[in-house]
Amino acid sequence: MNLLKYLQAQGIGTRKECAWLIKNDLVEINQIICNNEKTEVQPENVQTLHIDGEEAIVIPLPYFYILLNKPANYETSHKPRDYPSIFSLLPDQVRATDIQAIGRLDADTTGVLLITNDGQFNHRMTSPKYKISKIYRVTLKHAADETLCSSLKNGVLLHDDNETVAAQEAILRDEYTLILTINEGKYHQVKRMVAAAGNRVVHLNRERFDNWDTQDLEQGEWRFIQPE
Ligand code: URA
Repeated sequence: MNLLKYLQAQGIGTRKECAWLIKNDLVEINQIICNNEKTEVQPENVQTLHIDGEEAIVIPLPYFYILLNKPANYETSHKPRDYPSIFSLLPDQVRATDIQAIGRLDADTTGVLLITNDGQFNHRMTSPKYKISKIYRVTLKHAADETLCSSLKNGVLLHDDNETVAAQEAILRDEYTLILTINEGKYHQVKRMVAAAGNRVVHLNRERFDNWDTQDLEQGEWRFIQPE
C-alpha cells in the first residue's frame, strides 16, 4: 500500500493531514524520512514509525487483534450511555481505526475482551456455529452446591426465550464461586442462566475467551495478539 494509505490505516490522521505530514518531512519509517506519498510500504517491514519526531504505535496491518482486560464500569460500545467506552482505554491512534469489540461484556463485567478491525474474524468468534468457549468466574449471591452445576449443565430455560441453554462445564470452586464455560454469547447469558437456575450473579469475570486469558494484563491494560 502507498505511504498515504498506510498512515491513514495507522490512525495517524485524515487523508489531508497525512498528506501534509508527508510533504513536510515529518514522517519517518525505520528512522528514514519518507516524503513521497506514493512510496510503497510493506507493513510487515515497518519496525518504527515517527511522526513529527514522536514515536507512533506500529499497528499490525491489514488486520489487528487486541486483548483487553476490561475493568468494571466501562461500556462495550462506541456510543456509551452511562459509563466511558472501553475504546477510551486504547490510544487515540488505535481508536481512529475501524475497530469493533468481539462480542460484548456488560458494564459491570470484567476480564477478557477482544477487539479487532477484522470483520470476518469477529463473525467467526461470535457466531454460535463455531462454538467458541468462554470461561467465566461467577461470584454467586447464595451459597451453591452441585445441584446448581447439574442444572446448568443439563440446560436451563431462559426467561423470554423458548429454548434451553446448557453450560459446557460448570464447576464450583467454593460455595460462592462458580466457573462456568459456555459456547454461545446470548444477551446477559451468564446472569440469565444463573438466575434461571435459582441463584444470582454478584460479580462476573471472563477468565478466558477461546485461547486467551488476561494473566499478563492488569485491569485496563491491553496488548496486540496474533491469532493462529
Ligand atoms: N453474560 C452476562 O450475563 N454478562 C456478560 O457480560 C457476559 C456474559
